[in-house]
Amino acid sequence: MADFAQAFARRSRLRGGDELTTILAGSPPGVLSMTGGFPNPATFPTDELDEIAVRLVREDAAVALQYTPCAGIPSVREYLIDRHEQLQGRRPGEAELIVTSGGMECLALMCQALIDPGDPIVVEAPTYLGALMAFGGAEAEKVAVAMDDDGLRVDELADRLEAGLRPKFVYTIPEYQNPTGRTLSLERRRELVGLCGRHGVLIFEDVAYRELSFDGTSLPTLWSLAPDVVLQAGTFSKSFFPGVRLGWATGPAEVIAELAAAKQTTDQCAGGLGQRMVEEYGRAGGFERHLPAARALYASHWEALSEALRRHMPDGAEWTEPAGGFLTWLTLPEEVDVPAMRPAALEAGVAYVPGPPFHVRDEGRNSMRLSFSHLTESELETAVERLAGVIRAGLARGPSAVA
Ligand SMILES: Cc1ncc(COP(=O)(O)O)c(C=O)c1O
Repeated sequence: MADFAQAFARRSRLRGGDELTTILAGSPPGVLSMTGGFPNPATFPTDELDEIAVRLVREDAAVALQYTPCAGIPSVREYLIDRHEQLQGRRPGEAELIVTSGGMECLALMCQALIDPGDPIVVEAPTYLGALMAFGGAEAEKVAVAMDDDGLRVDELADRLEAGLRPKFVYTIPEYQNPTGRTLSLERRRELVGLCGRHGVLIFEDVAYRELSFDGTSLPTLWSLAPDVVLQAGTFSKSFFPGVRLGWATGPAEVIAELAAAKQTTDQCAGGLGQRMVEEYGRAGGFERHLPAARALYASHWEALSEALRRHMPDGAEWTEPAGGFLTWLTLPEEVDVPAMRPAALEAGVAYVPGPPFHVRDEGRNSMRLSFSHLTESELETAVERLAGVIRAGLARGPSAVA
């Protein structure tokens, strides 16, 4: 039998990825899964999409079913530029925006455009594991900067930059961060753009969850505060539906031009049908009609999860308090080995994502990410009860057995 493994690139061993594959594959029957950052299908506007899809195929096939310009269909770009002005109070220039095939593609394009092997980049500790995989695959030298309840520790980043660190960019998820659910405070936003502006360091702002605040309010984006030093990646995966695989990159024209050049070697253009669906839905006021209900659903799921955590978790367990999005970060007493506890949790019928894959090095072994987007409120209650049972059983057996 041929052995192709020796033909695989060195890069293929640098990116990791088992965890993401596991999340995307879903959990076995009977297991209540708090793993994926998946939107709840109840938020998918199927009736409106049905009408729009049929209309586009019948009346707009020459555009919607065709290849599109690399930077996006002109009318879609126009819509996105208007939407930036509406939601972020600033209008990008023509050359400052491209349509992407989702947030993950923007991460891949940034790697292709900016990273040579060994180049330092800064990430939050912990951060989105898809981003860590992309940066790992690009052979970046990942430098982790700590977070606290107000988001990235900008003072720690300042110390690193003062000490001579010159990263290609600082990757940050300012709202309802993946995996911690935390939000970067307004004061820190101002400090961060000021700091990076002074040092000439690009900020890579990922706004995947921004439109899903529980109360409908939001802080200014980093890009709106400092468009000269921020490249923003956005996606419709969480606010519309992931099947559309559509997003945007907005930032300095020279960076956007480089991303557009890189896109020539990936898919050359985002799917026209998805682009036109977003445009038609958006121009008809779909987001304004639909997002309040989605926000209310996630807010009430979080309420159910936090209530269950308060009721069932043992002393010493702590969790973050998201103001939007899908995720909270649970930290357990030091002696609990969360990755090793996973088989017992699955046996008990509950699944989570352990902390280490969200870290640059194998840290966070006593932490886990919990998603509250997908399960019903009563399932969340049962899931936490099961999880707490597994944790308590481990703790009762003593430090060496907490696995
Ligand atoms: C922070 C963050 N960025 C980007 C993505 C990927 O988004 P997309 O589905 O648009 O590729 C995700 C998906 O979970 C995410 O959590």
